[in-house]
Amino acid sequence: MTTTRHQIVFANSQNLPMLADDSIDLVVTSPPYPMIQMWDSLFASFSKAIAGALENQNGDEAFSLMHQELDAVWKEMHRVLKNGGFLCINIGDAVRTLNDRFQLFPNHSRIIAACTEAGFHLLPVVLWRKQTNAPNKFMGSGMLPAGAYVTLEHEYILIFRKGDKRLFTRLSEKLARRESAFFWEERNIWFSDIWDFKGIFQTLNHQKLRRKSAAFPFELPFRLIQMYSLKQDTVLDPFLGTGVTTLAAMAFCRNSVGIELDDNFQRIILDQVRTARPALNQRISERIASHAQFVDTCNASGKNLKYMNAPHGLPVMTRQECEIRIESIADILVESSNEIKVMYQYLSADNAPAAVPVAPLNPPGKYPAALDS
Ligand SMILES: C[S@@+](CC[C@H](N)C(=O)[O-])C[C@H]1O[C@@H](n2cnc3c(N)ncnc32)[C@H](O)[C@@H]1O
Repeated sequence: MTTTRHQIVFANSQNLPMLADDSIDLVVTSPPYPMIQMWDSLFASFSKAIAGALENQNGDEAFSLMHQELDAVWKEMHRVLKNGGFLCINIGDAVRTLNDRFQLFPNHSRIIAACTEAGFHLLPVVLWRKQTNAPNKFMGSGMLPAGAYVTLEHEYILIFRKGDKRLFTRLSEKLARRESAFFWEERNIWFSDIWDFKGIFQTLNHQKLRRKSAAFPFELPFRLIQMYSLKQDTVLDPFLGTGVTTLAAMAFCRNSVGIELDDNFQRIILDQVRTARPALNQRISERIASHAQFVDTCNASGKNLKYMNAPHGLPVMTRQECEIRIESIADILVESSNEIKVMYQYLSADNAPAAVPVAPLNPPGKYPAALDS
């Protein structure tokens, strides 16, 4: 039976002696955002100089000192990542008025500079659109010219690689890669440079929790983990917060390590992990149901898919998708306050539970649909 292991560690990610050099396949994370007020007290707790700069309303100095705290984490990520491993950072810029001056603090470009300095190579980035209808989204002088500012309705997903392209030389690696592939139509959405999550599965981190912790939606680590790692790889989140990255790693057969400074998150993380199985299985089976829907759409428009994915008994667009194998979660065992074990079962066409139609175009009785509903 396939199993994965997930560790939660309460520590400062600037120094992670418990992680060996070159031991991690992928980092997916979102740090506290410098110059966003909700993180002022955290950054001020790192150094008196930051507290002083904020008190003196010296924005440029506070920005620079806050980033120096994050720089140490990016260096540590370079040490622990394997050659060919990826670092994916979700970050937004900040706007703020200090000393009567309204200013943008470009967190994303400062982090690109730091990660490049640490030795990473920058790859094309994703813009995550976060449109808002809030009445106060327009800043400045309203309808009067030369004093209004454009809105900030996007964040970045910065993507870096350590060293050279990852090689898949052993037979077992080649097989794991083919089983970890994604569907053609998933590729078309995930590898676009603009993401918009509106209306997509977010039940794991409900609104109130998200606001309080700045948690990112499940869809974000869900995509990145599948885009940049293989089953049984190890994913690290050095700013774990509520543990969304752990949940996404659990859902797709990756091992994970999550590091968080604030041990108040322990209860939230473990509560989420203990109760996550139905929602994760729902999201897992939605992948197959959406693909089945895509097949129907192709059939209806007279486009026949040439290849067959044997594990799920579904036609696919390309040869690369023929061995995709998607497992569902059989059990989640919280072995201790910081160790979780996850067990999986194959979601084959034969052992699939009776199908529940989850989309109008999904013919009943053929495809696995919602599991733990
Ligand atoms: C933006 S939140 C991450 C939210 C997370 N992605 C989620 O979905 O819940 C940043 C987190 O990093 C933690 N943190 C800040 N500095 C840290 C450090 N040096 N080491 C470990 N954790 C840190 C904070 O306590 C906070 O929970």
